[in-house]
Amino acid sequence: MLGKHTKLCFTISLGAVIVAVVLAAWGIPKIVSKQIQKNVQLDNSSVMFEKWRKLPMPLIFKVFVFNVTNAEDVNAGARPKLQELGPYVYKEYRERTVLGYGDNDTIKYMLKKTFVFDQEASGAFREDDVLTVINFSYMAAILTVQDMMPSLAGVVNGALEQFFSDLTDPFLRVKAKDLFFDGIYVNCKGNHSALALVCGKLKTDAPPTMRPAEDDSGYYFSMFSHMNRTESGPYEMIRGRENINELGHIVSYKGKTSMSSRWGQDPYCGMLNGSDASIFPPIQGSNAPDKLYTFEPEVCRSLYASLVGKSSLFNMSAYYYEISREALASKSAVPSNKCFCKKNWSANHDGCLLMGVLNLMPCQDAPAIASLPHFYLASEELLEYFDGGISPDKEKHNTYVYLEPVTGVVLKGVRRLQFNIELRNIPSVPQLANVPTGLFPLLWIDEGAELPDTVLDELRQSHKLLGYVEAFRWIFLGVSIVALLASAVAVARSGALPVWPRNSNSVSFILTHPNPGSNKVH
Ligand SMILES: *[C@@H]1O[C@H](CO)[C@@H](O)[C@H](O)[C@H]1NC(C)=O
Ligand SMILES: *[C@@H]1O[C@H](CO)[C@@H](O)[C@H](O)[C@H]1NC(C)=O
Ligand SMILES: *[C@@H]1O[C@H](CO)[C@@H](O)[C@H](O)[C@H]1NC(C)=O
Ligand SMILES: *[C@@H]1O[C@H](CO)[C@@H](O)[C@H](O)[C@H]1NC(C)=O
Ligand SMILES: *[C@@H]1O[C@H](CO)[C@@H](O)[C@H](O)[C@H]1NC(C)=O
Ligand SMILES: *[C@@H]1O[C@H](CO)[C@@H](O)[C@H](O)[C@H]1NC(C)=O
Ligand SMILES: *[C@@H]1O[C@H](CO)[C@@H](O)[C@H](O)[C@H]1NC(C)=O
Ligand SMILES: *[C@@H]1O[C@H](CO)[C@@H](O)[C@H](O)[C@H]1NC(C)=O
Ligand SMILES: *[C@@H]1O[C@H](CO)[C@@H](O)[C@H](O)[C@H]1NC(C)=O
Repeated sequence: MLGKHTKLCFTISLGAVIVAVVLAAWGIPKIVSKQIQKNVQLDNSSVMFEKWRKLPMPLIFKVFVFNVTNAEDVNAGARPKLQELGPYVYKEYRERTVLGYGDNDTIKYMLKKTFVFDQEASGAFREDDVLTVINFSYMAAILTVQDMMPSLAGVVNGALEQFFSDLTDPFLRVKAKDLFFDGIYVNCKGNHSALALVCGKLKTDAPPTMRPAEDDSGYYFSMFSHMNRTESGPYEMIRGRENINELGHIVSYKGKTSMSSRWGQDPYCGMLNGSDASIFPPIQGSNAPDKLYTFEPEVCRSLYASLVGKSSLFNMSAYYYEISREALASKSAVPSNKCFCKKNWSANHDGCLLMGVLNLMPCQDAPAIASLPHFYLASEELLEYFDGGISPDKEKHNTYVYLEPVTGVVLKGVRRLQFNIELRNIPSVPQLANVPTGLFPLLWIDEGAELPDTVLDELRQSHKLLGYVEAFRWIFLGVSIVALLASAVAVARSGALPVWPRNSNSVSFILTHPNPGSNKVH
């Protein structure tokens, strides 16, 4: 009787061990990763989808402006003294309109951003503060014309006087709000040949920062109104239903799978790598990628942040990524970046821009130059141009992201970018005859996201659940092994060995090998 029960116990616990081993080694990880995939993939049944479609919280969009405090002196040849003003804080709401689904597991969408000024967060800074900044559209026009036909600059200036009524110097006194969103009027009425040239170029290039006036008499220049006004895209993104490791990758933008036409047909610089920074694939095990790519339509290229290490944020483990010097390195430092060099900055720099700056001409059809704020990670030579106001600081000026590994969700991230333009000494143009030549910053943006507490709580709950599943996996295995051992001992004691066909397979061989007689406890 006893023997029968112990035999049964033994058989059951043996079965349990086998099930536990299979679950622990294969079943549970498989189920868990399947479940995670189901929740993060871009499918309207997934938990993430609605949050991806309409961001549950606004991003915080901050603008810092460089006010020129010695404009008169700069006109006479002095080095510029700058004063950073800001943040002017905007809430940035993001919403995607799904256009449809593609063949290769892709989703097509348009991205709409809406900006709303946040006076409370901006503190003492107001939208109608009057700023003295470099006259971006003026410099852009004159540089465009001079680069198109260098000998014409003096002639062209006559036209530019018409183009920019009341022209006195290359600086602009403007309200913050007009510079950012409302726009500064640029007149195109007149019949000067060079004016026709500039306005004609604006018409064909249609740079995003120039909004045509309603009556077609000219343009309004502003830095960000195009982002608030128009949807961007269409983007085509991988949904991660077939391969979760490709979740979020952008495969095309505006119908193009490469930006190489912008970068002199070079396939490397034109690659669309990575996501739009809203979503990343989950990280399996400890296989965190070294580089986290994002595609940035504003600069027409992919950039990456490099893995720094494991970290912890909001009591959750996270991977920390940071932009590295290589991403914006000059051609001499990183040869494959050579296709991003589209303009001679100075003859002594191998026909390329300096370290840490990116020419936006090929991308935005305006002679703007991007860098990290305060020329962080850029050539020190750029700093020599200033008489104060520029001081790169890693804490304030780098770009980073904290990634939650289980879901690939961004716990916190900040993207920072500065826009600059060349102030060029041109002897034939009275307003530029004495100014020092250099790379002049206009403003920089800080676009940050941090998950709201509700989403963090959801994440914590799912981590807890995962913790339980993980605990169950090992407890079940442990308990079933203990039960097996106990029943094996009981079987041995009762002397009633289950009848296993000997050596029929390795499992039965191992389990039946100990001689029951010698195992007896006296
Ligand atoms: C989800 O998407 C499928 C097609 O992929 C569609 O048939 C279904 O109506 C959608 N459901 C909702 C709730 O939008
Ligand atoms: C910007 O600098 C000018 C001097 O060039 C100054 O008059 C003005 O008050 C400054 N603007 C702000 C908002 O501080
Ligand atoms: C899908 O992928 C295949 C093979 O990679 C490719 O030939 C095809 O053009 C792709 N289809 C679309 C719509 O991108
Ligand atoms: C952005 O556009 C919306 C209307 O689409 C408008 O209400 C809002 O004031 C604009 N934001 C800014 C900062 O101009
Ligand atoms: C700067 O450019 C604007 C047009 O963008 C023009 O109206 C203005 O007169 C210029 N300012 C100065 C001080 O030259
Ligand atoms: C065009 O130029 C002529 C002479 O230079 C001038 O009389 C006329 O008013 C100009 N027309 C416009 C629209 O500015
Ligand atoms: C794009 O990604 C590929 C593969 O990950 C990499 O080899 C290449 O250097 C990346 N290109 C750019 C421009 O970052
Ligand atoms: C992190 O955990 C500690 C102790 O477990 C707790 O005191 C703290 O409030 C937690 N912080 C957050 C941001 O949840
Ligand atoms: C840049 O300048 C160098 C030397 O001055 C010259 O050899 C090269 O052709 C120029 N490149 C471009 C793109 O203008």
